[in-house]
This record gives sequence, C-alpha cells and structure tokens, in this order.
Amino acid sequence: MNQDELKRLVGTAALDYLKADSVIGVGTGSTVNCFIDALINSGIRIEAAVSSSEATTRLLEAGGIQVVDLNQTGGLDVYIDGADEFDAHRRLIKGGGGALTREKIVAAASKKFVCIADQSKQVKVLGAFPLPLEVIPLARSLVARKMVALGGQPEWRENFITDNGNWILDIHNLDLVDPVKMEQTINNLAGVVTCGLFALRPADMILMATEGGVRQL
Ligand code: A5P
Repeated sequence: MNQDELKRLVGTAALDYLKADSVIGVGTGSTVNCFIDALINSGIRIEAAVSSSEATTRLLEAGGIQVVDLNQTGGLDVYIDGADEFDAHRRLIKGGGGALTREKIVAAASKKFVCIADQSKQVKVLGAFPLPLEVIPLARSLVARKMVALGGQPEWRENFITDNGNWILDIHNLDLVDPVKMEQTINNLAGVVTCGLFALRPADMILMATEGGVRQL
C-alpha cells in the first residue's frame, strides 16, 4: 500500500469512533481529508462539526456537513485529527499545515482525541519534524532568538499566514526528549500564540495505518 492508501484506510477506520447525531471536532490535513471523504460517503448522520481550519470547513460544507462554532457547542465527545509525528506516549507534533492553534483549541474542548496517522509518523523521540510555532507577527524575531537560546534553529515559513492572521516559525533540531517541559517553556514566551507540541494534552488514542491494517495504540 502506498501512503495515500494508508491514509484512506485510517481515515475510514476513524468512523468507528463517531456517535450518530453528535457534534464532532474535525482536524486538518491530508489524512483528515480522507476521513471527511469517508464520513460523507458513509451515510453516518452527525449533527454538525466544529472545524479546525478554513480548509476543513470548506470540505465539510461541500459535503453537506453543517459547521458550527465551538462557542455554541460546549464540550465535544470526540476530535479526529492527524499528526506530523507521534511517540509511544501519544504525544504529537502538529502544525505542518499551519492549523495548530485551532487544532489545539478543539482538542482541548474534546473528551476523546483520536489521532489518525500512517506508520511513517511514528517516532521514538519527537523532533525530526521541525516544530511549528504560531507567532504574533511583531514577535517573530524575538521568538526566533529565544528559540535559538533553547537550542533550536528557527525558519520563518515565508508567504504563509495562518487562519488567525499570524505567522509560523518552524524550529529545527530542538531537543524534545522532554516534550512536556519544552511545551510549557515555549508556551511562556511572549508572542507565541501556540506551540505545535501536543504533549500536555496528548492524543487519547492513535489509529496507525500499517501494511497489515489499522493498529490501535
Ligand atoms: C495541520 O496543521 C497539521 O497539524 C496536520 O494535522 C498534520 O500536519 C498532519 O497532516 P497530514 O495528514 O497531511 O500529514
């Protein structure tokens, strides 16, 4: 199976975690797009979805799924989203698509975060994938200098503006042996909107697509 087939496999497997007539949280990215396709084709009736990005909203609405504001729904039962990397403790790096802030908000509002990923995203230690930070534009250089002091190599994702009107710094070569501590440290930097580490609130379950089928971690 190629990577696209693995993404479709795990996107479809996530349907098992939905309750009919519920409001669900939906993440962003190519794996989530497979989940949205599977959901639209499944005939499963959900009441509505809270979306983590404008791109996801467009796909959901094109498929006839109502998108609602998180402020109207209160807590959600389940959030389905992908990851750029995950470790054995279900801690994640996210934000490759730049949607990390809304993803972190919807994950925080959800009882169960089901992360869908193919096996290429599994790592022993997080950090081979550069860590995305959403920053207030004014603070770009300041945050970049702070990240250098923490041992990273920041790269500005030029010509990219987030759905919230901010910028992204991708931090290379950061030591993420203790991702909880690093997330707390980065969260305290002035000008950082969101850090792409999901370690303080990891996924509750990883559905990992492999050649042999979908494994639940
Ligand atoms: C979006 O900002 C990201 O967090 C995505 O969830 C993550 O990058 C996974 O995307 P793919 O499924 O496209 O690999």
